[in-house]
Amino acid sequence: MDDVKDLYDLGEIPPLGAVPKLMHAMPIRQERHGRPATAMQHETVPVPEVGPGEVLVYVMSAGVNYNGVWASLGKPLSPMKLHKQPYHIAGSDASGVVWKVGAGVVNWHPGDEVVVHCNQTCGQCHNCNGGEPMLCREQQIWGYETTHGSFAQFAKVQAQQLLPKPKHLTWGEAGCYTLVHATSWRMLYGHPPHTLKPAMNVLIWGASGGLGTMAIQICKAAGANAIAVVSSEEKGRYCMDLGAKAWLNRKDFDCWGVMPDPNDPEAYGGWVKRVRKFGKAIWDITGGVDVDIVFEHPGEQTFPVSAYVVRRGGMVVFCAGTTGYNLTFDARYVWMRQKRIQGSHFASKYEADQANHLVMDGKIGTGLSREFSFEETAVPHELMLDNRHPPGNMVINVNATAPGCHNLEESRAAQAR
Ligand SMILES: NC(=O)c1ccc[n+]([C@@H]2O[C@H](COP(=O)([O-])OP(=O)(O)OC[C@H]3O[C@@H](n4cnc5c(N)ncnc54)[C@H](OP(=O)(O)O)[C@@H]3O)[C@@H](O)[C@H]2O)c1
Repeated sequence: MDDVKDLYDLGEIPPLGAVPKLMHAMPIRQERHGRPATAMQHETVPVPEVGPGEVLVYVMSAGVNYNGVWASLGKPLSPMKLHKQPYHIAGSDASGVVWKVGAGVVNWHPGDEVVVHCNQTCGQCHNCNGGEPMLCREQQIWGYETTHGSFAQFAKVQAQQLLPKPKHLTWGEAGCYTLVHATSWRMLYGHPPHTLKPAMNVLIWGASGGLGTMAIQICKAAGANAIAVVSSEEKGRYCMDLGAKAWLNRKDFDCWGVMPDPNDPEAYGGWVKRVRKFGKAIWDITGGVDVDIVFEHPGEQTFPVSAYVVRRGGMVVFCAGTTGYNLTFDARYVWMRQKRIQGSHFASKYEADQANHLVMDGKIGTGLSREFSFEETAVPHELMLDNRHPPGNMVINVNATAPGCHNLEESRAAQAR
């Protein structure tokens, strides 16, 4: 195309399929690792080339996740050490438009409106073909372990990462939910036989957060009882509005942190007493039965309690250790009561697609809490790092600069006005 500019302003939509040389992006560089406000800086960088099986997505909105926080901090690892590129564009969630497809991509075409799931795999090994794609040896998380995430005008993804954008959602709503929703879905459905069933009791930590917001809604859709744990009344009310059966304030209890040494009867005995007080609060909700599943991610601070309060034969499923990685538990209760401790990581394409259908069908909301402009990319990450973010999911409007648009046509019309 002759009339392609080298660089477009944010929200200045190029002709469909026209790829400029440069793009606005919010890269992190090794020498800037630290708080998001320091690490994420507005720069102009080259638009990535797409190879076979890859797709260039024109990013409308980009969801805010902890991945951006970890990438900024360079913890537990600098993403640049993983992908060996000079900078890292974070962002593991997006809504947008297919702009260019690489060789061999047959199911998607320029102009298709999509959301993006963040799992990349080789697509060719036995695990990717009839096995468990999350066990592919080349499995990596787009926007954390790869260079070109969604905090830029264009993102580079594998074609299999694309899912149809739910038409009833604005760009911002569509950009904010896929990572936490698909992760929660796999945690609750991906580890048979411990799958979610009606009337089950599920204890959900951080229940007003990104994962928790989706987990509560998945439980509600399944007819299960979500018991939300949060740190304020405002968050508790938010969880009830989403469909939780009840909520607990973790600040009312003091059984947190690494488990004391069982050989120290005084320390250990005191801890068990305090955990039982928390367990009793759960029984008051369930009518005296233990929870079937504990939905874990805080890690160090909560793990010993999770392993204690889950029922005989129940499952503690965890996908993170936000408060620390030194996860402790009393092994005696786990083996004698045959509890399952299960690690879980994002989701396969199949699971992400199943989860997306609930949103497309309007059975689950996206939990969008607050929208930010591209220039403000670091702001929601700062809030998240300090646990000061609002309940639900935050989003950054990259090229979706006109509010309330649902598709490219509306965005072009808004641009013309
Ligand atoms: N492996 C994966 O595939 C995957 C996918 C998504 C997310 N994750 C990880 O999961 C974690 C949570 O993600 P998110 O998006 O849900 O984050 P989020 O929106 O920040 O929610 C986390 C919640 O944790 C709670 N929390 C903070 N400190 C706590 C403590 N000491 N004890 C108990 N709860 C505490 C907070 O709620 P209260 O203060 O109200 O308790 C907060 O709302 C992050 O580490 C993220 O990287 C992993």
